[in-house]
Amino acid sequence: MNMYDLIRKKKEGGILDREEIRWMIDGYTKGSIPDYQMSAMMMAVCFRGMNAEETGELTLAMRDSGDVMDLSAIRGVKVDKHSTGGVGDKTSIALLPLVSSLGVKIAKMSGRGLGHTGGTIDKLESIPGFRTSLSEQEFRRQVDEIGLALMGQTAELAPADKKLYALRDVTATVDQLSLIASSIMSKKLAAGADAIVLDVKCGSGAFMKDFEDAKALAEAMVGIGRHAGKKMRALITNMDQPLGDAVGNALEVQEAIDTLKGKGPADFTELVLALGARMLLLAELETDVKAAEERLEEAIADGRALEQLGRFIRAQGGDDACLSDDSILAPRGGCAELKASSDGIIIHMDCAEAGMASLMLGAGRSRLEDSIDPYVGIRFLKKTGDTVRAGETIALLYYSDEAKEKAAEERLASAIRIAESAAEGRKAIILDEVE
Ligand code: URA
Repeated sequence: MNMYDLIRKKKEGGILDREEIRWMIDGYTKGSIPDYQMSAMMMAVCFRGMNAEETGELTLAMRDSGDVMDLSAIRGVKVDKHSTGGVGDKTSIALLPLVSSLGVKIAKMSGRGLGHTGGTIDKLESIPGFRTSLSEQEFRRQVDEIGLALMGQTAELAPADKKLYALRDVTATVDQLSLIASSIMSKKLAAGADAIVLDVKCGSGAFMKDFEDAKALAEAMVGIGRHAGKKMRALITNMDQPLGDAVGNALEVQEAIDTLKGKGPADFTELVLALGARMLLLAELETDVKAAEERLEEAIADGRALEQLGRFIRAQGGDDACLSDDSILAPRGGCAELKASSDGIIIHMDCAEAGMASLMLGAGRSRLEDSIDPYVGIRFLKKTGDTVRAGETIALLYYSDEAKEKAAEERLASAIRIAESAAEGRKAIILDEVE
């Protein structure tokens, strides 16, 4: 087999078979296939596409390029959840303790964030003492003991994807559906769960701006998961404005805690219940979405979910005093107000721009090596569809550096549009489902 022939085959619209894909991924991971040939292949895939079979085989080859977590010793159905990422997305921090408080086993690997705000790992690390660098043994033991553990992705997890993603990033070949779906799913499959719920974001703050693209990505990922023998469900959810009211690391953890106390923002609570219900269904603890949501609501109301969050924080070395003392995760430094420039209705809030404003305050990273400030961010008092009066506060910006605040406030102001009347109402948070 040689790479020249495979590139030519794909360039001419041919279908790569399992052996060819495995040989190519293996050679690229080991360094026997150079970047320039792989770049040509990625570009050929961008123009010619891959069918479902090829996409599935590419994913499995990338999964098998490194360690695959073996969770078989842990009893019960292990359910994972993945979000394609958005602004204010603190879902896992509320969702995982909630669902595991009802007996679902969760062994989750998460990443750090690049852009907007931090990733789940960065957010959790704003809890004093919280540790995510668990050994595999600690990780498995914790899932067995308390039903929930979360660790950072190891370098040995799908190394082919790591190398390939870095190459795609500099060769304008990231935005191809099969390549995105296989990249995400190779890491999910390597993490070893039996069932996966996907939260595919759609809108101005998401990777996929259009509904049709988000739906196609969700279908491709569900198809790959099933090809690999996993039980799958996906929701397509709205990311046209920040999720919940808080954007920033400690701020978002506080919002997740508040949600498990039954005091969360309506959109965020609805999303957590919707994803949680699907996780209960996949774990075969419920057969009906509505009944599952009711059970989740009960676990919030009777304090079980919050107790499980406390157990989770303590097991990972964190101080659970933040569950009763709001000052621990409170913003530090100054607070500025973004005020409405006129009377009217907020008709648009560019979500990616709101994320950029938060990054400019120091809550996110522009480069992987940047550090983040856990105690800065934005709290929205008004969202799309809300009526405002001139001079009324739309958002609070928490900052540590005045110059950064000025720039962030300007950026946020230009992301928000106010009109005398709204053409349409607020969009739902759940847009569609792939079962
Ligand atoms: N996230 C990933 O992990 N991979 C992609 O290709 C795109 C987003």
